[in-house]
Amino acid sequence: MSDELYLGLDVGTQGVKGVVIDPAARPCVIARASQPLDLLPGLPAGAAEQHPDDWWNAVVEVVHQLLADKAVDPSSIAGLGVSGQQHGSVFVDEDDRVVRAAKLWCDTSTAAEARELTETIGRAVPVGFTASKVMWLARNEPDHWQRTDGVLLPHDFINLRLTGERTMEAGDASGSGWFDVRQRCFDDAAVAAIDPQLAGKLPRLLETGEAAGTVSPAAAQQLGIPEGILVAPGGGDNMMSAIGSGATRAGTVVMSLGTSGTVFTRTDSPVIDPQGLIAPFCSSDGAWLPLLCVMNCTNVTEEVRNGYFPDDPDALERLTDLAAAVEPGCGGVSFVPFLHGERVPDLPDATGTITGLRPGSFAPGVIFRAALEGITANLAAGVERMKQLGVTVDGLRLVGGGSKNPLWRQMIADALQVPVTLPEEPESGAFGAALQALWSHQRGEAPDLTSDDIANHRVPLQNVVVEPH
Ligand code: XUL
Repeated sequence: MSDELYLGLDVGTQGVKGVVIDPAARPCVIARASQPLDLLPGLPAGAAEQHPDDWWNAVVEVVHQLLADKAVDPSSIAGLGVSGQQHGSVFVDEDDRVVRAAKLWCDTSTAAEARELTETIGRAVPVGFTASKVMWLARNEPDHWQRTDGVLLPHDFINLRLTGERTMEAGDASGSGWFDVRQRCFDDAAVAAIDPQLAGKLPRLLETGEAAGTVSPAAAQQLGIPEGILVAPGGGDNMMSAIGSGATRAGTVVMSLGTSGTVFTRTDSPVIDPQGLIAPFCSSDGAWLPLLCVMNCTNVTEEVRNGYFPDDPDALERLTDLAAAVEPGCGGVSFVPFLHGERVPDLPDATGTITGLRPGSFAPGVIFRAALEGITANLAAGVERMKQLGVTVDGLRLVGGGSKNPLWRQMIADALQVPVTLPEEPESGAFGAALQALWSHQRGEAPDLTSDDIANHRVPLQNVVVEPH
């Protein structure tokens, strides 16, 4: 037992998850909690929004749940870190009040602005990145834009509520569309091309590993945690997941099956895809994180579940058993899963399609298996693109909610022809955020300490290897 505990929070699209870790314990995670979130209802097709105040309320609830766990002594919490869904646009006024709901990573309603910016900036600005959302706001809601004093990403907003300070760090900022990933600084020309006023609304950029601040008296009181403890820089959920799944050294490739499907690996230099399909992100611990993101993943399997067995809490297990009895290929039924449009391939206005239907094809096991196959095939196509860019993929670590499905794990091993392993902790985003807080804290006394020194021995794998067939 250590007398210092660290708290990690992950603000995702479907909910906020939290963990408390004891760095000396094995396993490290000693408490966990979660609180669901919904998209705002009634928006036009393509729009996907949430209100940042709802994120904060869910964070407060999750922290209260964590502190109520008898394994946690609140006065021992020495630091916390925040992981957040990437790319969302948070607009705050001069008093740090939210100006309007945030457009999310999966919002494709600004596809026209994304295309325009790709032309003017001269490099890919994929739909979903924050840049087109800012341009959209300035053009469509000029009153809101004039009231906006600060532009933040989702985890920066939670850091603001925790510390009272507006900051950004390189990992999440590299998904904005206005970041120079090679130099790890804001790209002034891109900032100016998005809007002449944007430069004046950007926050301070943190150095690698630099804390975002300390917990303010107001946040300490609201959350019940000690005032003045360290708030790590945090990062986008994929950057934090990289730390929480042990991708803190080159060579480990991670696939995350969450609301989005992602594949990423840490590299010591930037990997730039001229076609813009593989995102050239920075990591949140000083390196780079080339990443494939598909917008249709467990959000699609959820649609199938809700369509067939909406009231059954065991619906996913039931559908998985039914799908396991269906032959691979589903007798010719193909499910192209682009329900939310798609980023890779670049088809923001696409919709989903099912082809090859015959009598019997609507059986739940067939449609569920076809959905898993369609998502997997799309991920596999993206992985091929990563390989073309020089990324070696000779094994995968699988994380996220979908990694709990044994049929899906095997399908991924088979489709990519690589062995699949599983970290013991599937909530790699929240876990990574807690580990980053530990790193950020210890760097105060040991500036050369790497995130790998902190994470590697604290991220054990399950004793399972899924071999490809
Ligand atoms: C990555 C991306 C998604 C979100 C999901 O580029 O858009 O993985 O971060 O929260």
